[in-house]
Amino acid sequence: MKKILHISSSPRGAASSSILLANRIIEKIQNLHPGSTVVVNDTTEKDYPHLDSALINAYRATEKPEDVLKDSDAAVQELFDADVIVIGVPMYNFNLPSALKAWIDHIVRPGLTFSYATGAPVGLLKDKKVYLAIAANGVYSEGPMQTYDHAEPYLRFILGFIGLTDITTFRIEGGGIPGIMETAVQKGLERVAVV
Ligand SMILES: Cc1cc2nc3c(=O)[nH]c(=O)nc-3n(C[C@H](O)[C@H](O)[C@H](O)COP(=O)(O)O)c2cc1C
Repeated sequence: MKKILHISSSPRGAASSSILLANRIIEKIQNLHPGSTVVVNDTTEKDYPHLDSALINAYRATEKPEDVLKDSDAAVQELFDADVIVIGVPMYNFNLPSALKAWIDHIVRPGLTFSYATGAPVGLLKDKKVYLAIAANGVYSEGPMQTYDHAEPYLRFILGFIGLTDITTFRIEGGGIPGIMETAVQKGLERVAVV
């Protein structure tokens, strides 16, 4: 039995390919590990604010103001509670949607999810599996546009920085390319395999 955390970042609900793909990953995990539970954090509804001076100061303060940090603390707790984290990523302008970036700015916390206490950075989240469910109109897993994808490399880097290094990516891609778009969803869903 796994505790699954689904971080969703498309505002398109039932029309969203990243949500569809994330749900397929979750379904497969549940089949493999019956009784697994799911917590959903829809970052488009949560609307994490841009970091302002109150939040930045609170991250670094020794006396932590609970009211300022409430949403950030809850988002971090969800990560510590999870065994498996499934992150839905609609590619926007070759990168993450800002709702997902805002979530990242709330979970990358000095002394909580990473530390420089020993001089070198250490990620403080351990032994968790991460799946990325990326949806895009172009094709980035291979071919001439591969280097245009700034979403997956950044996510692998920043999640690794906080200790989440076991990452597998699935994609629904080519959704805007005739000849590929017709089967993009079906092929993306078929490729899903979990541990
Ligand atoms: C604002 C915006 C920017 C986009 N930028 C890109 C892009 O840079 N590259 C790409 O391949 N597709 C891009 N797309 C297409 C989306 O990635 C595609 O529609 C994807 O399915 C969105 O994910 P969703 O279906 O989960 O909402 C963009 C779509 C929107 C709305």
